[in-house]
Amino acid sequence: MIVLDYGSGIGRITKPMAKLVRVVYALDTDEEMLRVGKIYCSEATNIKWIQCADEILFSSIDFIYCILVFQHNTLSGSQRILEDIFRVLKVHGKAVLQFPVPETHRYYYDYTEENVTKLLSCFKIISVRTVVKDNVDNTLAYRNYLVEKV
Ligand SMILES: C[S@@+](CC[C@H](N)C(=O)[O-])C[C@H]1O[C@@H](n2cnc3c(N)ncnc32)[C@H](O)[C@@H]1O
Repeated sequence: MIVLDYGSGIGRITKPMAKLVRVVYALDTDEEMLRVGKIYCSEATNIKWIQCADEILFSSIDFIYCILVFQHNTLSGSQRILEDIFRVLKVHGKAVLQFPVPETHRYYYDYTEENVTKLLSCFKIISVRTVVKDNVDNTLAYRNYLVEKV
């Protein structure tokens, strides 16, 4: 199985994922994240660190996850990420895409359910699961969308 961790950071999830699958692409636009990630995940030999989705063949990825990334982008930036994801995912490939729930965040007003559903219009939405992260002084919620390219 070939997996893409879109917005991988230093590889917090990439590292355990690499133990389960044949290849993981760890994509991050931030060079420093890639540099530190290569050190943090140095024991894994099946991680490909990349800065841009153009380095991945069209329709070649079985599964993609994009966690804690969309909130760092405007809606149009998120649209570009989703175009990348659509292009590289195989037909019937699946993705887990995490969006902030705006009511629980101070800044991410744009990610209403209506806007997210529009962003995901080229995918089939299989399920939506709300996850809650409790911090000392606040509770943040995210919606994890499991989608399929059909
Ligand atoms: C909060 S970190 C999350 C990292 C990882 N997904 C995790 O859950 O540990 C967000 C990461 O997304 C990356 N990122 C944000 N926007 C991006 C984009 N448009 N394309 C690729 N990476 C992006 C940032 O550089 C950063 O490393």
